[in-house]
Amino acid sequence: NYRNGHTIPAEGLYPHQWLWDSCFIAIGLAHYDIERAKMEILNLLKGQWSNGMVPHMIFDPALKYRQDRELWRSYTSPYSPDGIATSGITQPPLIAEAVVQIGKKLSKEDRRAWYAKTYPHLVKYHKWLYRDRDPKNEGLVLLVHPWESGLDSSPPWMFDLEQNHMALWIRAVKWLKLDGLVNKLRRDTHFVPPGQRLSTTDALLVFHVLRKLRHKGYSHQRIMKSKLPKVEDAGFNAIFIRANSHLKHMAKTLGLDLPQSLAADIKHTEEVYNDLWDEAASQYFSFNINTGEKILIPSIATFLALYSGKISKDHAAKLVEHLNNHQTYAAKFPVPSVPQNSTWFAAHRYWQGPTWINTNWLIADGLDRYDYKEEAAKIRESSLQLVERSGFYEYFSPNDGSPAGAKNFSWTAALTIDFLNRK
Ligand code: GLC
Repeated sequence: NYRNGHTIPAEGLYPHQWLWDSCFIAIGLAHYDIERAKMEILNLLKGQWSNGMVPHMIFDPALKYRQDRELWRSYTSPYSPDGIATSGITQPPLIAEAVVQIGKKLSKEDRRAWYAKTYPHLVKYHKWLYRDRDPKNEGLVLLVHPWESGLDSSPPWMFDLEQNHMALWIRAVKWLKLDGLVNKLRRDTHFVPPGQRLSTTDALLVFHVLRKLRHKGYSHQRIMKSKLPKVEDAGFNAIFIRANSHLKHMAKTLGLDLPQSLAADIKHTEEVYNDLWDEAASQYFSFNINTGEKILIPSIATFLALYSGKISKDHAAKLVEHLNNHQTYAAKFPVPSVPQNSTWFAAHRYWQGPTWINTNWLIADGLDRYDYKEEAAKIRESSLQLVERSGFYEYFSPNDGSPAGAKNFSWTAALTIDFLNRK
């Protein structure tokens, strides 16, 4: 899947560069081709906007992808880079993780040089997340599109879109049963059976929000004043907390102090993440700023809290109980992206049931940090089994391990390499 300077997630369905994909890919590459791992990250940083945002996609410049680029029109923002077409939103901030994993493979001197090169970009990115995505200084950053969460069609997000962002024209398509027609225009269902992707209504909702963001020129002031989605996402903030810890480590290695305001913001996030905990359900939920309520729909995002490394031991133990519960997450091939007893659960549908290798990687990493070594090893082992049986698929049924989504999916391959190297 190598292209010019970066790796695409999969041929056909995903022909561009994606933010968190490239981070997982670099983590795998670091085990055997350090220069390519570095290149993967540096190429990603070429797409960074002047306001600090790292976009979730960088487009292939080929003529045949003009339509993809035009969907976003990143050039409408004064902050987008010259000559590089990108999306206008971000994705889970895993770059610091990838940078540090690469750093581990380098000599002391090379590590310093590698950090020195990437650190300024990361400081700028994390500052942007605080400035534009936490304008009221509440400590948690908010997302404006489900794709920013990385778990694109996760039930809490689809619920918000269906409840609060259903445009009249989408209702009309539903009433008039024009789904079939719309499906013809969808790219994803050309490559993957429709039952493994979003419903047409959900797909339209997702594109509707994208269009609105584009109409606002991706301007944070305009977005904040609008009714567009605003969610303090439990998964994204957990990954951000971990990324901040990595950033602190990089600063220390370089003998630098983090900018004071950034250091204060980082501390604040670690303190308030706990507000996303729901005592009754004993798990973390995302918070919807627009409605002022938590979105009380269970999803795998809750377990990413373990990866943050900053939750209490008590909460970690409660999350492990969920992982061990056969009604919910203890599937034959864990960890399902939604609990098996959820009304949303569908074994093969994109983030609404399947097991993904990247979330397994993050959860296993978190479990290790809280000393649940056995549980972590089990998840890694089962991930390897999935791949051994079927190949590097995008996702798998937690019930019987059958594969789904794109074939030859890059992060599945890259993280397999990482798992094997830990054995
Ligand atoms: C899907 C996933 C997203 C990923 C992208 C490219 O949209 O939901 O997390 O980044 O594919 O692989």
